[in-house]
Amino acid sequence: MTTENDLTTRERVSSDVQSEAAPPHGRFYVFEGIDGAGKSTVARRVFEKLTASMNRKVVLTSEPSDSWLGDCVRRSHREGVSPTCETLLFVADRADHTERIRKWLENGAIVLSDRYYASTLAYQGAALKPFLGEKSVEWLKSLNDPVVIHPDMTFLLLIPPETGMKRLSGRNERTKFEKVGFLREVDRIYRDLAEEDETFVVIDASGTIDEVTGTILEAIKSNI
Ligand code: TMP
Repeated sequence: MTTENDLTTRERVSSDVQSEAAPPHGRFYVFEGIDGAGKSTVARRVFEKLTASMNRKVVLTSEPSDSWLGDCVRRSHREGVSPTCETLLFVADRADHTERIRKWLENGAIVLSDRYYASTLAYQGAALKPFLGEKSVEWLKSLNDPVVIHPDMTFLLLIPPETGMKRLSGRNERTKFEKVGFLREVDRIYRDLAEEDETFVVIDASGTIDEVTGTILEAIKSNI
């Protein structure tokens, strides 16, 4: 069983939980979207609201994770590696992260993840397109298949890539993916994924943080 002490800084767990009241299996919700969509802020807000209102353990986690494998992903961004190498690092980090998620779910927790496998399909799908063409997403799906747990719902926060870029302009920390043409392709793949998977919930993220949080909380509460 994972205790609060086992959690890294970006993985938070609510306290004051009566574990006997928890149902036998947990629920798994993922937040996705292009850079600047506001998903990290919304995920944090949803975590706080659920923690305050549910008599149940709630975990907020993210990818790249805070493990040494997540550090490898971040290092690869700084040092520069090929899109294929980067893909394999993201998936290695996910394979390990999934085992932590599995334990939380077995323990009856509500797990919220800020990014999961759809990020690899969308971002690395776009990065690999010049090499693999349209096949890139299919290859990424087969690579991820053995290492993921299918989320109960994936909230896809949509904003125009130009708006995302504007929102990011004040941020110090930038990733190499924050280019408008690239983000347009990422956005296209995300929308395709949402069309083919009914567990995706598409959210208009141009509203306020409160509006977006409220919509997601309603969806989660009707699913639990
Ligand atoms: P963040 O800004 O949400 O922390 O994510 C860091 C960057 O990593 C973001 O630009 C998206 C990118 N990313 C991928 O390219 N593939 C992945 O599988 C994940 C999890 C993130």
